[in-house]
Amino acid sequence: MCGIVGYIGPKQATTLLLEALRRMEYRGYDSAGIAVINGTGLKVRKAAGKLSNLEKQVAGDLPRGTVGIGHTRWATHGAPTTPNAHPHTDQSGRIALIHNGIIENSGSIRKALLKRGHTFTSETDTEVLAHLVGELYQGSLEEAVAAALREVDGAYGIAVICTEEPDVLVAARNGSPLIVGIGESERFVASDASPLLEHTRSVIYLDDGEMVILTRDGYRVRDLEVKHIDKPVNQIDWDLATIERGGYEHFMLKEICEQPESLANTLRGHLLEDEGTARVAGLNLTDDELMSVERIIITACGTSWHSGLIGEYMLEELARVPVEVEYASEFRYRNPVVNDRTLVVGISQSGETADTLAALREARRRGARTIGLVNVVGSTIAREVDGGTYLHAGPEVGVASTKAFTSQVAALALLTLRIGRLRNLSILQGRQFIQALTSLPAQIEQILSRTDELKVLAERFFTGNNALYLGRGVNFPVALEGALKLKEISYIHAEGYPAAEMKHGPIALIDENMPVVFIAPRDAVHSKIVSNIEEVKARGGKVLAICSEHDTEIERLADATFTIPQTLDLLTPMLTVVPLQLLSYYVAVRRGCNVDQPRNLAKSVTVE
Ligand code: AGP
Repeated sequence: MCGIVGYIGPKQATTLLLEALRRMEYRGYDSAGIAVINGTGLKVRKAAGKLSNLEKQVAGDLPRGTVGIGHTRWATHGAPTTPNAHPHTDQSGRIALIHNGIIENSGSIRKALLKRGHTFTSETDTEVLAHLVGELYQGSLEEAVAAALREVDGAYGIAVICTEEPDVLVAARNGSPLIVGIGESERFVASDASPLLEHTRSVIYLDDGEMVILTRDGYRVRDLEVKHIDKPVNQIDWDLATIERGGYEHFMLKEICEQPESLANTLRGHLLEDEGTARVAGLNLTDDELMSVERIIITACGTSWHSGLIGEYMLEELARVPVEVEYASEFRYRNPVVNDRTLVVGISQSGETADTLAALREARRRGARTIGLVNVVGSTIAREVDGGTYLHAGPEVGVASTKAFTSQVAALALLTLRIGRLRNLSILQGRQFIQALTSLPAQIEQILSRTDELKVLAERFFTGNNALYLGRGVNFPVALEGALKLKEISYIHAEGYPAAEMKHGPIALIDENMPVVFIAPRDAVHSKIVSNIEEVKARGGKVLAICSEHDTEIERLADATFTIPQTLDLLTPMLTVVPLQLLSYYVAVRRGCNVDQPRNLAKSVTVE
């Protein structure tokens, strides 16, 4: 999720662009850059790492000019290096372009441009687009951008400037947000309103397929053909903090609600429905190497460890490979049996968790192949493993991990498909799994449309300081995850347990003051969990059941239910976890807790 900003007006652009990029830091980034036009051409400055690196680079020698563009990058294609940072220029060096999104056919366009003598300095899809615009430029930047965009597939929000036309800034969107700011003899374009507020509250929201041509005193909106489009000028009445959260009260709620999109992004480009398998190129493992794997160890911490437990069920059920899931903090200090036929999978949202990093280093030291399922591109774990795949879930700001969890499970599903189809999984089973996976974003959307139900349940059930979460099979890890969510943001002591194990001790806790949350979808162990619910009810416990639609048996037994759509047993955690995330959120808000930064916690535990 990159940050884009553009300016054309009477002021010096550099200072204004840097301030705007600072405003968009919350979007997450790993590199940044600006391009400014002045009388002597295009000045491009960019730097990997924090924005302060770029600021240091330009300090004392601010590029002068009153039209410019700026960008903070959240890497998708290509590591977060200075050459890969935006802006990118065309072959001639006359045109600079910044981009938020993914150009899906950039590979074929790059090949064609290389054949026509183009040379590239980065690994990015964005540079390809800049070169395409430059090649199509025949005196009108607007027409060159429109022509180029007609050739690309994918999501983009772009801003483009050209030394031949210093009084014009062109921007366009398709799938990535872009907003136009209308000031006094100045115009802005940005990914969101956060950098605009100090200059203007008069904005135009571009829609997909639209372009805008900005000058100092005017603007014109069109589509990629030629049609002129009338757009209303809106007034922003949000404050800055609200804008950064996309209108949500907390980042955690924003990220819970982003899951249909983040899940789709994790799966995008990997599923091969015809063959019933998944392409996971980043694994850097040949089919033979994958076939030679005799055992998989998944190692992680916290929520990531919970997703690993779900991966164990998937991999053993569908790929028939023995799997162990290890707390990284334990694995790193014991004497594990690991060799070159062991595949060690590290799962980490941040890619910086010290225990997970140490566990992976220990595994490599003992000759294992290591792969990472990581969200932050270019993070330490991502750079040190032998291979892996990025989650593409976008920045996760809330300390309590939500969208990263569902994306981790999705990445494990891709790994399961890849390995399973090399072994025992039939093409029909693979296709069925893929169809169920691709249905999940819409099913999560359906759950998210019913948050009011969960707000009521949160009020009704979580009035004390204890709670028990029970699940069976692949939903036992969901019980652990639901309990972790509740305890880490509302400070209620919650415990997750295998439902059958409850009678070996925890059942002593059951009384009318102990809310018990059952994760009980209609799956292979449904009848067993019904018995567990009866055991709790017989002891006066209050039961909230997350169950399948039209499950009259559980609806009769439980004090309250929240239903989820039907999916394959192995994929039910992707749906059962969402109401638990929301329950913990509403309880924490009601208790006045700091939802996004809970006490004592850090987003990334980079110490032992
Ligand atoms: C989850 O809500 C917590 N914030 C925490 O357990 C987290 O999952 C754990 O620290 C692992 O972090 P990582 O995924 O960045 O490695």
